[in-house]
Amino acid sequence: MTERTERDQTIWLDPDFPDAVCIIDQRVLPHGYTEMAVDSVAAMAEAIRTMAVRGAGCIGVAAGFGMYLAALEARGMKAAEADSSLQAAANTLTATRPTATNLSWAANRQLDRLLGIDDDAERVRRALALAQDISDEDIAACRRIGEVGLDLIRAAHKRLGRTVNILTHCNAGWLAFVKHGSATAPIYAARDAGIPIHVFVGESRPRNQGALTAWELRNAGIDHTYLVDSAVGHLIQRGDVDMIFVGADRVTMSGDTANKIGTYLRALAAKESGVPFYVNFPSSTLDPHSFDGIDDIEIEERDGDEVSHVRSKVDGESTMARVLSDGSPVRNPAFDVTPHHMVTGLITERGLCEASPEAVAKLFPDYVARAG
Ligand code: MRU
Repeated sequence: MTERTERDQTIWLDPDFPDAVCIIDQRVLPHGYTEMAVDSVAAMAEAIRTMAVRGAGCIGVAAGFGMYLAALEARGMKAAEADSSLQAAANTLTATRPTATNLSWAANRQLDRLLGIDDDAERVRRALALAQDISDEDIAACRRIGEVGLDLIRAAHKRLGRTVNILTHCNAGWLAFVKHGSATAPIYAARDAGIPIHVFVGESRPRNQGALTAWELRNAGIDHTYLVDSAVGHLIQRGDVDMIFVGADRVTMSGDTANKIGTYLRALAAKESGVPFYVNFPSSTLDPHSFDGIDDIEIEERDGDEVSHVRSKVDGESTMARVLSDGSPVRNPAFDVTPHHMVTGLITERGLCEASPEAVAKLFPDYVARAG
C-alpha cells in the first residue's frame, strides 16, 4: 500500500487486505505518508521493532492485532502445537521493545483468552474480537483522558485570563495510540471547547517525534511552536510555560514514570520553577509488577546511528544525514524515569490521581490485586 488519504487512526482492518492489519508507516512521517498492510507475526514484530508503528498505546494495540495474526497462522495446527505457536508469537511481539508495558499487557490478555482452544475458527474469532476490544478501549481511554485534562486547562485559562501555554514532549498524540493521544487529548479537547491554547513542542531527539506532534497539531489547526530540546528549560524558567502534559511508556505502582528521553529534565525544570507537570496515560500503561522506576524499568538502548545521524528531507527525498564526525562513540538510551515526587498529577481514564503509591493503589485496587 502506498500514498492514500491521510486519516486520524493509526491501525485498522481493511476488507481489501483480508488476513492483514493496516497501519500508518510512521517512519516516513512527516516528510511523506504511507500506509502498510502487515500480514504475519514476524512482519508485525518488525514493524514494532523498526518503529513503523510506535508509541506505547499503539504498539500495545499492534501486539493485540499481532496475536490475531498468530491465531490465523495457527490454523491447521493440533491444539498443543497451536498453543506453543501462540506463546512463541507473544514472546516475539513482547521482545521487540522492552520499556513500554503495553506490549506484554496486550499479548498476555490474548494468551489468557486463546490458550487451550481446540478450534481454529473459534480461536481466530476470539483473537479478532479481543484485538478490536483492546483498540476500542484505547480510543475510549484517550477520549476520557482528554476530558480530565480539559478541566485543568479550563481552570488555568480562568486563572490566567489569556492563552494557555502548554509544553509537551515526544509524540504522545494520536499517532502514539489509536486516536486522540494521551498528552494531546486535553489539547484537542480544549481546541474543541474554544479555549485559547498554544503548544510548545520539543524536537525529541534523536528520532524527532516532536516533529510528529507538530505534524498532528498543524493538521488540527492548533497554534504551536517547535523548539530544540535544550530550549525547554529556558522557556520554563522565564514563565513562558503554564503547564506540561507528557505521555508515558510505563508507570509503576509508586507513580514513577518512564517516558521518552528528556522527560526527566523537563520535570526537573518544572519543579524548580513551580510549573505543573502532568503525566497522561491509559491504565494499559500501568505496570502492576513494578514499583521503583529506576530499579524495575528496563530502559531501551537503541542504535547509535539515530544519534550520529538525523533524518531530513533533501530535494524532496527523505534521507539520513550524518551530523557527527567518524570515530566518536555514542549512546542512545530511548527513555528515562521521572520519580513520582516530581509529578504534579497522573491523568488517566479513571480520573486525576496524585503521583504517590497510596493514590495509585486507591485508584487502581485491581492492579494491586494483580501484583499479588
Ligand atoms: O520510542 P517511541 O516513539 O515509541 O516512544 C514512545 C512515545 O511515544 C513516547 O515516549 C510517549 O511520550 C509516550 S506516550 C505513548
